[in-house]
Amino acid sequence: MIIGIRGVGKTVLLKKIKKEIENDYLTCYVDLSATSGYQMGELTEMGIILHFYECWMEACKEKNFTTIFKKVKKYFKTKNFGLREIIDIQGIPIPVPKSEDDYKKLSQFVLELPQIIYEEHKNKIKGSILIIDEFQVLKDLGDRLDTFLWFLRSVIQNQKHTAYVFSGSINSRDSIIEKIAGKDGAFGGRMLNIEIYPFSEETVKNYLNEKLPSLNLDERGFERFYKCANGIPFYLNTFAKLLQKNVQLNDSKVKEEFKKTLPFIAFNTSMELVNFT
Ligand SMILES: Nc1ncnc2c1ncn2[C@@H]1O[C@H](COP(=O)(O)OP(=O)(O)O)[C@@H](O)[C@H]1O
Ligand SMILES: [Mg+2]
Repeated sequence: MIIGIRGVGKTVLLKKIKKEIENDYLTCYVDLSATSGYQMGELTEMGIILHFYECWMEACKEKNFTTIFKKVKKYFKTKNFGLREIIDIQGIPIPVPKSEDDYKKLSQFVLELPQIIYEEHKNKIKGSILIIDEFQVLKDLGDRLDTFLWFLRSVIQNQKHTAYVFSGSINSRDSIIEKIAGKDGAFGGRMLNIEIYPFSEETVKNYLNEKLPSLNLDERGFERFYKCANGIPFYLNTFAKLLQKNVQLNDSKVKEEFKKTLPFIAFNTSMELVNFT
């Protein structure tokens, strides 16, 4: 479990890790806030499961594990999953369930998929890894949250070659953390908890010197800058990009500029100082 406040760099970190391991593992990155239905305020278990499914299929496609598509299709046809139909999207069979009610069987199958795929391709991968980002949106499941988490646990607890990474913009006191990783939570005691903290002053100083040498902050100016951006990379980058370059900036100048640029920082997507790819 990787937690930390918004903008601290979790997603960037997860994608970097994914990139480093994707040769050796079947990796799947799911952003739960992009699950269909969520944007309309209707996050459902079925929506999440189908999102997982599509992600695994994409990952298989990238690895050229195409035999799995036929196998899955056969499964859908022979086992009674309660499907209305199976549609074909670029060779990938996509199940369309009849109703939310009979999602249990299909869910079980989808959660077992990474293990099944691993067994089939042992010689090419060391295991499967599912990265679930923005997991705080699970709160939208309301009373169904606990049931969902315990179901998840019951299926995945015996998987020896599948790892799960949860990540979300949340602080360690949030109750969803307790439900997942707390000692009475669904994954209690089995989960490693890692919190990502904002950059320290020292880190920011070195970072700016390296990436943006034309930014000239005097000592008080830097202190003000650090305070305004709070050490959060998202704000640091955006604010630093917007500041005047090649002139010395003191405390009050930084303050003034911060006020001016606040709308940008609040509403725009982050401006990059670093190319992460
Ligand atoms: N290690 C880093 N170094 C520099 N900038 C970073 C770093 N990590 C993140 N950022 C910046 O912060 C922005 C937000 O990061 P992101 O990973 O999306 O945050 P989170 O997922 O925690 O909300 C990124 O777009 C990038 O500009
Ligand atoms: Mg993120």
